[in-house]
Amino acid sequence: MSFKQLMEDASAKMKSSIILALDLEKDKPTRLLSHSIRLLEATHPYICALKLNRQTVLPLGLFQGAKRIVDKAHEYGLPVIMDAKINDIGNTNRAIAEYYFEAGFDAVIASPFVGWEEGLQPVFEVAHKRQKGVIVLVYMSHRGASEGYGQLVQNSKSRKLEHQYKIFAQKAAEWNADGAVVGATYPEKIREIHEILGDKVPIYSPGVGAQGGDVTAAVKAGARYLIVGRGIIQAESPADAARRLRDVAQKSR
Ligand code: XMP
Repeated sequence: MSFKQLMEDASAKMKSSIILALDLEKDKPTRLLSHSIRLLEATHPYICALKLNRQTVLPLGLFQGAKRIVDKAHEYGLPVIMDAKINDIGNTNRAIAEYYFEAGFDAVIASPFVGWEEGLQPVFEVAHKRQKGVIVLVYMSHRGASEGYGQLVQNSKSRKLEHQYKIFAQKAAEWNADGAVVGATYPEKIREIHEILGDKVPIYSPGVGAQGGDVTAAVKAGARYLIVGRGIIQAESPADAARRLRDVAQKSR
């Protein structure tokens, strides 16, 4: 089954479009692991997938610690995304993606700035051969995103001046990406990008809560999945926070 379908099925089964970003404050690896498992146990009924970041994989180790979280999420029927922001030459990108897939991750996030040939092509090849996913950044959620993703640049094919994020959205569709990341902090960008992608490439939207993004605005603009970290993890009750976010997102669809 393709990653896109895996996510659709998980979202339908859990009646949720919330992806938990399991980013914990710096701590000892053993405590990070037990805290991660506890958070997953508490929130799994309200989420449709899990996302790990390098800040978790680095201290835990890929095959020792992170894999245990991945396995636990799979026991709950949740796909797991590695927010690797892959951004190197193809040979290196391929090796990075293969390690994550061998550890059980179902998809990786990659940066389109490196291009296709000898850039992301090898990542898509290894991913799709294993029925794994590649999610491409199109417009990031932080303030400085405009400096790169928001630049007006000359399209190398048409020679016309276009915004970088629009070119990345076109590439995400052309490359058959399994998802596109667009910050929930920019609902107007979600709308523009959704017009380019339609339902072919689902939009994954981080930036809700701590970064100021609004669930309803993001969903109404076309976000299919919402990625939430601090808004759940730092809540007094992560389970209640996840449930509330799930309910708001479901009502907004
Ligand atoms: P918070 O705590 O802000 O965490 O809810 C958000 C999570 O998502 C990651 N993040 C991004 N990942 N493109 C990405 O691929 C983005 O534009 C983006 N913005 C935030 C962030 O690292 C954290 O894990």
